[in-house]
Amino acid sequence: MRRILTSLSLVLLTASCNRPQSTLHSAGPAAGDLSQIGWIVYILFGAVALVMWLLLAWAAVRKRGSLETHQPWDTGGGQRWILIGGFAIPFVVLSCVFVFAMERMSDFPLHDNQIPSTPEILVIGHQWWWEVRYIGGPPDTQFTTANEIHIPAGRPVNIQLETQDVIHSFWVPKLHGKVDLIPGQSNYIRIEANHPGNYTGECGEYCGAEHARMRLLVVADSPQAYEEWKNAQLKPASPPTDAEAARGQEVFLSAPCAFCHKVRGTQAGGLIGPDLTHIASRQGLAANYYPNNPANLAAWVTHAQSMKPGAVMPNVTQFTGTELRALVAYLRQLK
Ligand code: CUA
Repeated sequence: MRRILTSLSLVLLTASCNRPQSTLHSAGPAAGDLSQIGWIVYILFGAVALVMWLLLAWAAVRKRGSLETHQPWDTGGGQRWILIGGFAIPFVVLSCVFVFAMERMSDFPLHDNQIPSTPEILVIGHQWWWEVRYIGGPPDTQFTTANEIHIPAGRPVNIQLETQDVIHSFWVPKLHGKVDLIPGQSNYIRIEANHPGNYTGECGEYCGAEHARMRLLVVADSPQAYEEWKNAQLKPASPPTDAEAARGQEVFLSAPCAFCHKVRGTQAGGLIGPDLTHIASRQGLAANYYPNNPANLAAWVTHAQSMKPGAVMPNVTQFTGTELRALVAYLRQLK
């Protein structure tokens, strides 16, 4: 009885929790189809488990007695239990789940990986961060950012998935199931968020030491906020606003930073790491593993290898305290 209660309370507990990455509480059509399958399988499993426990309890309670009265004997019966309980019922249940799952899968508009006429966003996986290119319009409307994907809420957005190195997997549980980024191949998904909000995700395929620190953020904006965001991202970096930031820009351009990172509008044109043109507009650092604030930024510049061991970003320890402060001030105003 206690076990039944434990199982029941577990079911209730899990059903009640709506965590940021719960696959059972979707926020978009594609994830909605998947969560429906999830709920049905979950409830069926619960019902079957409940019947099993009741039968076991019944068998345990029904016949008590000595060892002698339980000597094995052949009553010649019981076959029907096996045929019905062990074969017929599982066959019916699993067939229904299979047909339902197939039917749901066919709802995915890009399920055969057909190429959409207009992928709006190209996401390229790197060890261990996400390059995000907005490629939907003519060249003068295209730009590149990293780790944080903005979409307009209430409209489907086609995304092309590629990788620079190993296999990664794009997974934002509330919006879509996992889709792999495979070397030498393009995959396509269509995501849509019903409402504005932040939807976190992560790399869903083991891709090396820092796989667990390869997080994703999809921000669904209202259509107007989305246009504003896009226009802001399209602009080159604004020039330093004060003397300290100006000093910081000099530090940035003379340090190794500029070899790996690009800041549009300056001489920094590196393509190895994330584009930093508007880094201050992003919520996270190191593929969203750390909040983007001055302390983490300073720590990341100087001790990246402690914060994300194995990442391509080295520890850059050549700065004096004043230079580091100026550098952080410069990066913080790249809005
Ligand atoms: Cu990329 Cu795991």
